[in-house]
Amino acid sequence: MAKFLHHLFVCENVRPPGHPKGCCSEKGSPAIRQRLKDEIDARGWRKIVRANAAGCLDQCERGVTVVVYPGNVWYGGVTLEDVPEILDSLGRGEVVERLAMPEEKITGRAAPPGGLLACAPPPRPAEPRRLP
Ligand code: FES
Repeated sequence: MAKFLHHLFVCENVRPPGHPKGCCSEKGSPAIRQRLKDEIDARGWRKIVRANAAGCLDQCERGVTVVVYPGNVWYGGVTLEDVPEILDSLGRGEVVERLAMPEEKITGRAAPPGGLLACAPPPRPAEPRRLP
């Protein structure tokens, strides 16, 4: 089984037509995930990067939501045209700032002192531990 270096979770939540919150699917998220998958394949990243479908990420009013892990980067209002820029930035280890949602807009509170990585679990050992 592959162990991916990055996951891009694309909200593909569906709500009934006319629902006040709307949903990412009606804003084109399935096509955006497919474009991500196609571009991941074209870049030869298929074994290391995966674009996964996700349920509602609770950012419905911000348009199509895509979350990148590791890194905990939340993108809002993503369109098909943004896909190459998102993957270019991922390849450089950067963030597309114009699409990134600030922590306080996602959670309603400021990022913790030391930044988001201060909340991350400690890194795993480079070599897997062997059972005795
Ligand atoms: S429907 Fe996509 S974030 Fe809620």
